[in-house]
Amino acid sequence: MKAIILCGGKGTRLKPLTYTTAKQLLPIANKPILFYVLDQVKEAGISEVGIIISPDTGKLIKEAVGDGSRWNFQVTYILQAEPLGLAHAVKTAKGYLMDSPFLMFLGDNLIGGGITDFVKEFNSSPCDSLMLFKEVPDPRLFGVAELDSCGKVIRLVEKPKEPQSNLAVVGVYLFKPCIHKAIEDIKPSLRGELEITDAIQKLLDCGLEVKSHLLTGWWLDTGKKDDLLEANRVVLDDYTRRNIQGNVDNQSQVIGRVEIGVDSHIQNSIIRGPVVIAPHCQVLNSYIGPFTSIGEGSFIEKSSTYNPNHLVIRTSWLYGIIIL
Ligand code: G1P
Repeated sequence: MKAIILCGGKGTRLKPLTYTTAKQLLPIANKPILFYVLDQVKEAGISEVGIIISPDTGKLIKEAVGDGSRWNFQVTYILQAEPLGLAHAVKTAKGYLMDSPFLMFLGDNLIGGGITDFVKEFNSSPCDSLMLFKEVPDPRLFGVAELDSCGKVIRLVEKPKEPQSNLAVVGVYLFKPCIHKAIEDIKPSLRGELEITDAIQKLLDCGLEVKSHLLTGWWLDTGKKDDLLEANRVVLDDYTRRNIQGNVDNQSQVIGRVEIGVDSHIQNSIIRGPVVIAPHCQVLNSYIGPFTSIGEGSFIEKSSTYNPNHLVIRTSWLYGIIIL
């Protein structure tokens, strides 16, 4: 089985953060979102990975992931010249995918607990596609599913004005190669994109088997600012382990699950986990946490991040604290 990871898009909703980086590379707990995605793909046992890149940010994605040896992947980069939709991305990758079944994972989506069980289920059942849904408060922002009384998908609509359910399509899909034929048969939507939702609807119209799962764990679609902050909170809560590699003076207190990177110095401060402090930071006379990430090389003095929604990132244009 192969995987394609979609890393296109302009990240418009995340400006100004995406002026200097790709949205898939924005850090959550000091690690790019995309790296969590790649970790989950590896965990599921897939090693042939196609990364769909755009002309805008492809170079940055390539620099970050390189040849994929960090994950023992065979990585192939596939350029999608224009952002013409998720189904268009699959069409662009057709030569790479050939007749292989595949996983498609949006590079800015994250799900709690990983994807291993879904991949196993797909490989051991005769279905043509497996999708994930999650109950959301405003389904109009997503692809939306209608299920019958047995939980079978009967209809899919992309961003409906009047949703028939609160079940949003999550950005993790599994397909048999019959999806390529379905994509050939669809037309661009009103927003001018070839929608994968429409292609899956085609599978349904042809009587093919589309299985689905309702996600009970967390799902983060980090394409929007609020979700990025929520992702920071959720990921810090799930992943942070105590690991102090930096230097903490005896006027400071470090409480709970806190990571402090090498060459970081904490002086006369309280750090209350979950907190991740990257290497080469200085924290003086401050109160940090809980639920705070501090990016590499940050300098923090006489500050308090006593608010769950604080995310500190160092980028080429900013050095310090962003309070969003
Ligand atoms: C895309 C899909 C949509 C899905 C969403 C998940 O939306 O078209 O069906 O619910 O990803 O993140 P987009 O990000 O293109 O708005």
